[in-house]
Amino acid sequence: MRVLLLGSGGREHALAWAIARSPLCGTLFIAPGNPGMAALGTCVPLKLDDHAGIIAFGQENRIDLVVVGPEAPLVAGLADELIAAGMRVFGPSKAAAQLEGSKDFTKSVAVAANAPTAAYRTFTSLVPAVAHVHEQGVPIVVKYDGLMAGKGVTVAETIGEAVDALETLYASEPAARVVIEECLIGEEVSYFCLVDGETVLPFGAAQDHKRALDGDKGPNTGGMGVYSPAPVFTVEMERRALDEIVKPVAREMVARGMPYRGILFAGLMITATGPKLIEFNCRFGDPECQVLMLRLADDLLPILDAVARGQLAGVTARFNPESAVGVVMATRGYPGSYPSGTPITGLDDAAAMPGATVFHAGTRLVDGKLVSAGGRVLTICATGKGLPEARQRAYDAVAKVDWPDGFCRSDIGAKGLAHLKG
Ligand code: AMP
Ligand code: GLY
Repeated sequence: MRVLLLGSGGREHALAWAIARSPLCGTLFIAPGNPGMAALGTCVPLKLDDHAGIIAFGQENRIDLVVVGPEAPLVAGLADELIAAGMRVFGPSKAAAQLEGSKDFTKSVAVAANAPTAAYRTFTSLVPAVAHVHEQGVPIVVKYDGLMAGKGVTVAETIGEAVDALETLYASEPAARVVIEECLIGEEVSYFCLVDGETVLPFGAAQDHKRALDGDKGPNTGGMGVYSPAPVFTVEMERRALDEIVKPVAREMVARGMPYRGILFAGLMITATGPKLIEFNCRFGDPECQVLMLRLADDLLPILDAVARGQLAGVTARFNPESAVGVVMATRGYPGSYPSGTPITGLDDAAAMPGATVFHAGTRLVDGKLVSAGGRVLTICATGKGLPEARQRAYDAVAKVDWPDGFCRSDIGAKGLAHLKG
Protein backbone atom coordinates (compact mmCIF):
# COMPACT_ATOMS: atom_id res chain seq x y z
CA MET A 1 0.00 0.00 0.00
CA ARG A 2 0.97 3.60 -0.53
CA VAL A 3 0.20 5.58 2.61
CA LEU A 4 0.16 9.31 3.35
CA LEU A 5 0.29 10.16 7.06
CA LEU A 6 -0.53 13.73 8.08
CA GLY A 7 1.02 15.37 11.12
CA SER A 8 4.34 16.11 12.79
CA GLY A 9 4.03 15.29 16.48
CA GLY A 10 5.01 12.43 18.74
CA ARG A 11 1.65 10.86 18.00
CA GLU A 12 2.40 10.80 14.28
CA HIS A 13 5.95 9.55 14.85
CA ALA A 14 4.44 6.57 16.70
CA LEU A 15 1.84 6.01 13.97
CA ALA A 16 4.60 6.16 11.33
CA TRP A 17 6.67 3.68 13.36
CA ALA A 18 3.74 1.24 13.48
CA ILE A 19 2.73 1.73 9.83
CA ALA A 20 6.30 1.36 8.55
CA ARG A 21 6.56 -2.02 10.30
CA SER A 22 3.57 -3.36 8.41
CA PRO A 23 4.36 -5.90 5.68
CA LEU A 24 1.52 -4.22 3.75
CA CYS A 25 3.25 -0.83 3.72
CA GLY A 26 5.01 -0.31 0.40
CA THR A 27 5.57 3.46 0.51
CA LEU A 28 5.03 5.86 3.38
CA PHE A 29 4.84 9.61 2.89
CA ILE A 30 4.58 11.83 5.94
CA ALA A 31 3.47 15.45 5.75
CA PRO A 32 5.06 17.46 7.14
CA GLY A 33 6.74 14.96 9.51
CA ASN A 34 9.76 15.61 11.72
CA PRO A 35 13.42 14.48 11.81
CA GLY A 36 12.55 11.41 13.88
CA MET A 37 10.17 10.18 11.21
CA ALA A 38 12.53 10.75 8.29
CA ALA A 39 14.00 7.25 8.67
CA LEU A 40 10.53 5.69 8.40
CA GLY A 41 9.24 7.34 5.25
CA THR A 42 9.54 10.33 2.95
CA CYS A 43 8.71 13.66 4.59
CA VAL A 44 6.91 16.10 2.30
CA PRO A 45 6.42 19.79 3.12
CA LEU A 46 2.63 19.97 2.77
CA LYS A 47 0.64 22.33 4.98
CA LEU A 48 -2.22 20.65 6.82
CA ASP A 49 -4.66 23.46 6.02
CA ASP A 50 -3.84 23.19 2.32
CA HIS A 51 -6.53 20.63 1.54
CA ALA A 52 -6.23 21.10 -2.22
CA GLY A 53 -2.47 20.52 -2.00
CA ILE A 54 -2.96 17.35 0.05
CA ILE A 55 -5.54 16.01 -2.42
CA ALA A 56 -3.33 16.81 -5.40
CA PHE A 57 -0.34 15.12 -3.74
CA GLY A 58 -2.47 12.08 -2.92
CA GLN A 59 -3.71 11.74 -6.47
CA GLU A 60 -0.34 12.33 -8.11
CA ASN A 61 1.30 9.77 -5.85
CA ARG A 62 -1.48 7.17 -6.13
CA ILE A 63 -2.01 7.11 -2.35
CA ASP A 64 -4.18 4.21 -1.18
CA LEU A 65 -4.82 5.49 2.32
CA VAL A 66 -4.52 8.90 3.98
CA VAL A 67 -4.15 8.73 7.77
CA VAL A 68 -4.96 12.03 9.49
CA GLY A 69 -3.17 12.51 12.84
CA PRO A 70 -4.35 15.84 14.30
CA GLU A 71 -7.89 17.10 14.79
CA ALA A 72 -7.79 20.47 13.05
CA PRO A 73 -7.92 19.17 9.44
CA LEU A 74 -10.73 16.77 10.37
CA VAL A 75 -12.80 19.47 12.05
CA ALA A 76 -12.18 21.56 8.91
CA GLY A 77 -13.60 18.80 6.68
CA LEU A 78 -10.48 17.27 5.13
CA ALA A 79 -11.85 13.70 5.31
CA ASP A 80 -15.00 14.71 3.38
CA GLU A 81 -12.91 16.44 0.72
CA LEU A 82 -10.59 13.45 0.31
CA ILE A 83 -13.56 11.10 -0.03
CA ALA A 84 -15.22 13.43 -2.54
CA ALA A 85 -11.96 13.29 -4.53
CA GLY A 86 -12.21 9.48 -4.58
CA MET A 87 -9.59 8.79 -1.89
CA ARG A 88 -9.66 6.53 1.16
CA VAL A 89 -9.09 8.22 4.50
CA PHE A 90 -8.72 7.22 8.14
CA GLY A 91 -10.45 9.97 10.07
CA PRO A 92 -14.04 11.11 10.65
CA SER A 93 -16.14 13.48 8.56
CA LYS A 94 -16.48 17.14 9.47
CA ALA A 95 -19.94 16.46 10.92
CA ALA A 96 -18.69 13.58 13.09
CA ALA A 97 -15.55 15.48 14.14
CA GLN A 98 -17.83 17.93 15.95
CA LEU A 99 -17.48 15.44 18.81
CA GLU A 100 -14.14 17.16 19.35
CA GLY A 101 -14.82 20.50 17.67
CA SER A 102 -17.88 21.49 19.71
CA LYS A 103 -18.34 20.76 23.40
CA ASP A 104 -22.00 21.77 23.21
CA PHE A 105 -22.59 19.26 20.38
CA THR A 106 -20.83 16.52 22.38
CA LYS A 107 -22.95 17.25 25.40
CA SER A 108 -26.18 17.05 23.41
CA VAL A 109 -25.09 13.72 21.88
CA ALA A 110 -24.09 12.34 25.29
CA VAL A 111 -27.42 13.34 26.80
CA ALA A 112 -29.39 11.87 23.87
CA ALA A 113 -27.37 8.65 24.20
CA ASN A 114 -27.96 8.61 27.95
CA ALA A 115 -24.21 8.46 28.50
CA PRO A 116 -23.06 9.52 32.00
CA THR A 117 -21.40 12.93 31.88
CA ALA A 118 -21.19 16.07 34.01
CA ALA A 119 -24.42 18.06 34.32
CA TYR A 120 -24.08 21.23 32.24
CA ARG A 121 -25.66 24.34 30.74
CA THR A 122 -24.62 26.36 27.73
CA PHE A 123 -24.44 30.17 27.73
CA THR A 124 -23.90 32.83 25.09
CA SER A 125 -23.54 35.92 27.28
CA LEU A 126 -21.73 36.94 30.44
CA VAL A 127 -24.46 38.00 32.87
CA PRO A 128 -26.54 34.78 32.93
CA ALA A 129 -23.32 32.71 32.95
CA VAL A 130 -22.05 34.54 36.05
CA ALA A 131 -25.45 34.18 37.73
CA HIS A 132 -25.34 30.43 37.05
CA VAL A 133 -21.89 30.13 38.66
CA HIS A 134 -23.18 31.89 41.80
CA GLU A 135 -26.21 29.59 41.86
CA GLN A 136 -24.19 26.37 41.46
CA GLY A 137 -21.21 27.17 43.67
CA VAL A 138 -17.73 25.68 43.36
CA PRO A 139 -15.87 23.65 42.25
CA ILE A 140 -17.23 24.26 38.78
CA VAL A 141 -15.86 23.94 35.25
CA VAL A 142 -16.00 26.69 32.60
CA LYS A 143 -15.35 25.66 28.99
CA TYR A 144 -15.12 27.67 25.81
CA ASP A 145 -17.11 25.90 23.09
CA GLY A 146 -14.56 25.35 20.34
CA LEU A 147 -11.05 24.14 19.67
CA MET A 148 -8.61 25.68 22.15
CA ALA A 149 -6.02 22.88 22.45
CA GLY A 150 -7.08 22.22 26.04
CA LYS A 151 -6.57 25.85 27.04
CA GLY A 152 -10.24 26.81 26.95
CA VAL A 153 -11.05 24.96 30.18
CA THR A 154 -10.97 26.36 33.70
CA VAL A 155 -11.55 24.05 36.64
CA ALA A 156 -12.47 26.75 39.15
CA GLU A 157 -12.03 26.17 42.88
CA THR A 158 -13.41 29.62 43.75
CA ILE A 159 -16.26 31.77 42.43
CA GLY A 160 -13.65 34.44 41.62
CA GLU A 161 -11.72 32.08 39.35
CA ALA A 162 -14.88 31.06 37.49
CA VAL A 163 -16.01 34.65 37.04
CA ASP A 164 -12.53 35.72 35.89
CA ALA A 165 -12.51 32.97 33.30
CA LEU A 166 -15.93 34.03 32.00
CA GLU A 167 -14.97 37.71 31.91
CA THR A 168 -11.79 36.93 30.00
CA LEU A 169 -13.65 34.79 27.46
CA TYR A 170 -16.44 37.32 26.89
CA ALA A 171 -13.97 40.21 26.69
CA SER A 172 -12.20 38.52 23.78
CA GLU A 173 -15.36 37.15 22.13
CA PRO A 174 -18.62 38.90 23.12
CA ALA A 175 -20.88 36.16 21.66
CA ALA A 176 -18.81 33.19 22.86
CA ARG A 177 -20.61 29.93 23.54
CA VAL A 178 -19.57 28.68 26.95
CA VAL A 179 -20.39 25.39 28.64
CA ILE A 180 -20.54 25.50 32.44
CA GLU A 181 -20.50 22.08 34.02
CA GLU A 182 -20.33 20.07 37.20
CA CYS A 183 -16.79 19.27 38.38
CA LEU A 184 -16.20 15.52 38.29
CA ILE A 185 -13.99 14.01 40.97
CA GLY A 186 -11.75 11.02 40.30
CA GLU A 187 -8.90 9.86 38.09
CA GLU A 188 -8.82 10.60 34.37
CA VAL A 189 -8.40 7.85 31.81
CA SER A 190 -7.93 8.17 28.05
CA TYR A 191 -9.97 5.41 26.41
CA PHE A 192 -9.63 4.67 22.70
CA CYS A 193 -12.07 2.86 20.41
CA LEU A 194 -12.05 2.38 16.67
CA VAL A 195 -15.53 3.18 15.42
CA ASP A 196 -17.19 2.46 12.09
CA GLY A 197 -20.84 3.40 12.35
CA GLU A 198 -22.26 1.14 15.07
CA THR A 199 -19.23 -1.17 15.08
CA VAL A 200 -16.91 -0.41 18.01
CA LEU A 201 -13.51 -2.03 18.57
CA PRO A 202 -11.79 -1.21 21.89
CA PHE A 203 -8.28 0.02 21.13
CA GLY A 204 -6.56 0.49 24.46
CA ALA A 205 -6.48 2.87 27.39
CA ALA A 206 -3.81 4.98 29.04
CA GLN A 207 -3.39 7.59 31.75
CA ASP A 208 -1.94 10.94 30.80
CA HIS A 209 -0.47 13.58 33.14
CA LYS A 210 -1.85 16.93 32.00
CA ARG A 211 -0.20 19.31 34.45
CA ALA A 212 3.30 20.60 33.71
CA LEU A 213 4.91 19.83 37.07
CA ASP A 214 5.36 16.95 39.49
CA GLY A 215 2.47 16.17 41.79
CA ASP A 216 -0.04 17.39 39.18
CA LYS A 217 0.97 21.00 39.89
CA GLY A 218 1.38 23.86 37.44
CA PRO A 219 -0.58 24.75 34.33
CA ASN A 220 -2.41 22.34 32.03
CA THR A 221 -0.45 21.09 29.01
CA GLY A 222 -1.08 18.83 26.05
CA GLY A 223 0.21 15.95 28.20
CA MET A 224 3.51 15.40 30.02
CA GLY A 225 3.65 11.64 30.26
CA VAL A 226 1.63 8.51 30.06
CA TYR A 227 1.34 4.89 31.00
CA SER A 228 -0.66 1.99 29.63
CA PRO A 229 -2.41 -0.13 30.72
CA ALA A 230 -3.96 2.00 33.46
CA PRO A 231 -4.59 -0.04 36.63
CA VAL A 232 -7.54 2.21 37.63
CA PHE A 233 -9.31 1.24 34.39
CA THR A 234 -10.32 -2.27 35.40
CA VAL A 235 -12.06 -4.77 33.11
CA GLU A 236 -15.36 -3.79 34.75
CA MET A 237 -14.75 -0.06 34.22
CA GLU A 238 -13.90 -0.69 30.58
CA ARG A 239 -17.04 -2.76 30.09
CA ARG A 240 -19.13 0.06 31.56
CA ALA A 241 -17.36 2.73 29.48
CA LEU A 242 -18.02 0.71 26.34
CA ASP A 243 -21.66 -0.17 27.12
CA GLU A 244 -22.72 3.08 28.77
CA ILE A 245 -20.75 5.65 26.77
CA VAL A 246 -19.00 4.66 23.54
CA LYS A 247 -21.53 2.26 21.99
CA PRO A 248 -24.61 4.41 22.71
CA VAL A 249 -22.78 7.48 21.35
CA ALA A 250 -21.79 5.59 18.18
CA ARG A 251 -25.45 4.59 17.73
CA GLU A 252 -26.62 8.15 18.34
CA MET A 253 -24.21 9.46 15.69
CA VAL A 254 -25.61 6.95 13.18
CA ALA A 255 -29.14 7.99 14.14
CA ARG A 256 -28.19 11.63 13.46
CA GLY A 257 -26.99 10.70 9.99
CA MET A 258 -23.36 11.43 10.82
CA PRO A 259 -21.81 8.01 11.46
CA TYR A 260 -18.41 8.19 13.16
CA ARG A 261 -15.56 6.55 11.31
CA GLY A 262 -12.10 6.68 12.86
CA ILE A 263 -10.53 6.61 16.29
CA LEU A 264 -12.75 7.94 19.06
CA PHE A 265 -10.81 9.12 22.11
CA ALA A 266 -13.02 9.28 25.19
CA GLY A 267 -11.62 11.36 28.04
CA LEU A 268 -13.19 9.71 31.07
CA MET A 269 -13.31 10.48 34.76
CA ILE A 270 -13.39 7.33 36.86
CA THR A 271 -15.70 8.56 39.60
CA ALA A 272 -16.96 6.78 42.71
CA THR A 273 -20.06 5.78 40.74
CA GLY A 274 -18.27 4.67 37.57
CA PRO A 275 -16.88 6.16 34.36
CA LYS A 276 -18.20 9.54 33.24
CA LEU A 277 -17.48 11.29 29.97
CA ILE A 278 -15.39 14.49 30.16
CA GLU A 279 -14.84 14.96 26.44
CA PHE A 280 -14.30 13.25 23.12
CA ASN A 281 -11.45 13.76 20.70
CA CYS A 282 -11.56 12.64 17.08
CA ARG A 283 -7.89 11.56 16.98
CA PHE A 284 -5.35 9.53 18.93
CA GLY A 285 -4.00 11.13 22.10
CA ASP A 286 -0.52 12.54 22.30
CA PRO A 287 1.39 11.04 24.20
CA GLU A 288 -1.15 8.21 24.63
CA CYS A 289 -0.68 7.02 21.03
CA GLN A 290 3.03 6.48 21.62
CA VAL A 291 2.51 3.89 24.36
CA LEU A 292 -0.47 2.26 22.62
CA MET A 293 1.58 1.67 19.48
CA LEU A 294 4.35 0.09 21.57
CA ARG A 295 1.83 -2.34 23.07
CA LEU A 296 -0.15 -3.12 19.90
CA ALA A 297 0.51 -6.77 19.00
CA ASP A 298 -1.30 -6.70 15.64
CA ASP A 299 -0.48 -4.95 12.39
CA LEU A 300 -1.86 -1.39 12.58
CA LEU A 301 -2.17 -0.72 8.87
CA PRO A 302 -4.88 -3.26 7.90
CA ILE A 303 -6.86 -2.17 10.97
CA LEU A 304 -6.78 1.51 9.94
CA ASP A 305 -7.58 0.51 6.37
CA ALA A 306 -10.57 -1.57 7.50
CA VAL A 307 -11.98 1.45 9.32
CA ALA A 308 -11.41 3.65 6.27
CA ARG A 309 -13.18 1.09 4.05
CA GLY A 310 -16.12 0.88 6.45
CA GLN A 311 -15.30 -2.77 7.13
CA LEU A 312 -14.38 -2.80 10.81
CA ALA A 313 -16.91 -5.53 11.70
CA GLY A 314 -15.03 -8.75 12.47
CA VAL A 315 -11.63 -7.04 12.87
CA THR A 316 -9.79 -7.70 16.15
CA ALA A 317 -6.89 -5.93 17.84
CA ARG A 318 -4.62 -7.41 20.48
CA PHE A 319 -2.33 -5.55 22.86
CA ASN A 320 0.65 -7.02 24.70
CA PRO A 321 -0.02 -7.40 28.41
CA GLU A 322 3.29 -5.66 29.18
CA SER A 323 3.33 -2.04 30.33
CA ALA A 324 4.56 0.96 28.43
CA VAL A 325 5.52 4.33 29.89
CA GLY A 326 6.18 7.54 27.97
CA VAL A 327 7.92 10.54 29.53
CA VAL A 328 7.49 13.79 27.61
CA MET A 329 10.51 16.07 27.47
CA ALA A 330 9.53 19.69 26.90
CA THR A 331 11.45 22.92 26.47
CA ARG A 332 11.90 24.83 29.74
CA GLY A 333 9.12 27.41 29.90
CA TYR A 334 6.43 25.23 28.25
CA PRO A 335 3.44 25.66 28.26
CA GLY A 336 4.35 29.35 28.56
CA SER A 337 6.96 30.94 26.33
CA TYR A 338 10.16 29.05 25.62
CA PRO A 339 13.23 29.32 23.40
CA SER A 340 13.67 27.47 20.12
CA GLY A 341 16.77 25.93 18.56
CA THR A 342 18.34 24.53 21.74
CA PRO A 343 20.74 21.61 21.08
CA ILE A 344 19.80 18.02 21.94
CA THR A 345 22.18 15.03 22.00
CA GLY A 346 22.20 11.53 23.42
CA LEU A 347 19.08 10.24 21.69
CA ASP A 348 20.88 7.24 20.16
CA ASP A 349 22.08 6.24 23.63
CA ALA A 350 18.58 6.71 25.01
CA ALA A 351 17.04 4.58 22.25
CA ALA A 352 19.63 1.83 22.87
CA MET A 353 18.54 1.35 26.49
CA PRO A 354 16.57 -1.83 27.30
CA GLY A 355 12.98 -1.63 26.05
CA ALA A 356 13.34 2.02 25.04
CA THR A 357 11.93 3.87 22.01
CA VAL A 358 12.36 7.59 21.34
CA PHE A 359 9.63 9.52 19.53
CA HIS A 360 10.21 13.04 18.26
CA ALA A 361 7.72 15.91 18.23
CA GLY A 362 9.12 19.45 18.12
CA THR A 363 12.59 18.76 16.75
CA ARG A 364 14.47 20.15 13.77
CA LEU A 365 17.80 19.48 12.09
CA VAL A 366 20.08 22.49 11.66
CA ASP A 367 23.35 21.75 9.83
CA GLY A 368 22.90 18.08 10.65
CA LYS A 369 22.47 18.79 14.38
CA LEU A 370 19.26 18.14 16.26
CA VAL A 371 17.67 21.12 18.04
CA SER A 372 14.36 21.81 19.76
CA ALA A 373 11.57 23.40 17.74
CA GLY A 374 8.54 23.42 19.98
CA GLY A 375 7.10 22.99 23.46
CA ARG A 376 6.75 19.26 23.70
CA VAL A 377 9.86 17.96 21.96
CA LEU A 378 10.37 14.25 22.70
CA THR A 379 8.49 11.31 24.19
CA ILE A 380 10.97 8.88 25.72
CA CYS A 381 9.18 5.54 26.01
CA ALA A 382 9.93 2.11 27.36
CA THR A 383 8.12 -1.17 27.74
CA GLY A 384 8.59 -3.64 30.59
CA LYS A 385 7.01 -6.64 32.27
CA GLY A 386 4.94 -4.37 34.48
CA LEU A 387 4.53 -0.69 35.26
CA PRO A 388 7.49 -0.51 37.72
CA GLU A 389 9.92 -1.97 35.15
CA ALA A 390 8.60 0.10 32.25
CA ARG A 391 8.81 3.24 34.35
CA GLN A 392 12.36 2.56 35.51
CA ARG A 393 13.44 1.83 31.95
CA ALA A 394 11.82 5.01 30.60
CA TYR A 395 13.62 7.15 33.18
CA ASP A 396 16.91 5.28 32.56
CA ALA A 397 16.55 6.27 28.91
CA VAL A 398 15.64 9.87 29.81
CA ALA A 399 18.91 10.04 31.78
CA LYS A 400 20.84 9.48 28.53
CA VAL A 401 19.35 12.56 26.87
CA ASP A 402 21.63 15.57 27.01
CA TRP A 403 19.43 18.61 26.64
CA PRO A 404 20.09 21.38 29.20
CA ASP A 405 17.09 23.40 28.02
CA GLY A 406 14.64 20.52 28.42
CA PHE A 407 12.67 19.28 31.39
CA CYS A 408 10.32 16.44 32.24
CA ARG A 409 8.18 15.34 35.14
CA SER A 410 9.85 12.83 37.46
CA ASP A 411 6.63 11.19 38.65
CA ILE A 412 5.09 9.74 35.49
CA GLY A 413 3.34 6.51 36.46
CA ALA A 414 3.54 7.13 40.21
CA LYS A 415 -0.25 7.20 40.50
CA GLY A 416 -0.45 3.84 38.74
CA LEU A 417 2.15 2.38 41.11
CA ALA A 418 0.03 3.49 44.06
CA HIS A 419 -2.90 1.48 42.62
CA LEU A 420 -0.71 -1.59 42.20
CA LYS A 421 0.35 -1.34 45.85
CA GLY A 422 -3.37 -1.12 46.71
P1 AMP B 1 -11.11 19.20 28.08
O1 AMP B 1 -10.56 20.24 27.17
O2 AMP B 1 -12.60 19.09 28.08
O3 AMP B 1 -10.36 17.91 27.94
O4 AMP B 1 -10.69 19.62 29.55
C1 AMP B 1 -9.34 19.75 29.91
C2 AMP B 1 -9.13 19.18 31.27
O5 AMP B 1 -9.94 19.85 32.22
C3 AMP B 1 -9.54 17.72 31.38
O6 AMP B 1 -8.55 16.87 30.95
C4 AMP B 1 -9.80 17.62 32.87
O7 AMP B 1 -8.58 17.47 33.56
C5 AMP B 1 -10.39 18.92 33.19
N1 AMP B 1 -11.87 18.85 33.17
C6 AMP B 1 -12.67 19.11 32.13
N2 AMP B 1 -13.96 18.93 32.45
C7 AMP B 1 -13.99 18.56 33.74
C8 AMP B 1 -15.05 18.24 34.67
N3 AMP B 1 -16.33 18.30 34.33
N4 AMP B 1 -14.69 17.91 35.92
C9 AMP B 1 -13.39 17.88 36.29
N5 AMP B 1 -12.36 18.16 35.47
C10 AMP B 1 -12.64 18.51 34.21
N1 GLY C 1 -2.88 13.85 25.78
C1 GLY C 1 -4.18 14.35 25.66
C2 GLY C 1 -4.59 14.66 24.30
O1 GLY C 1 -4.00 14.21 23.34
O2 GLY C 1 -5.57 15.38 24.14
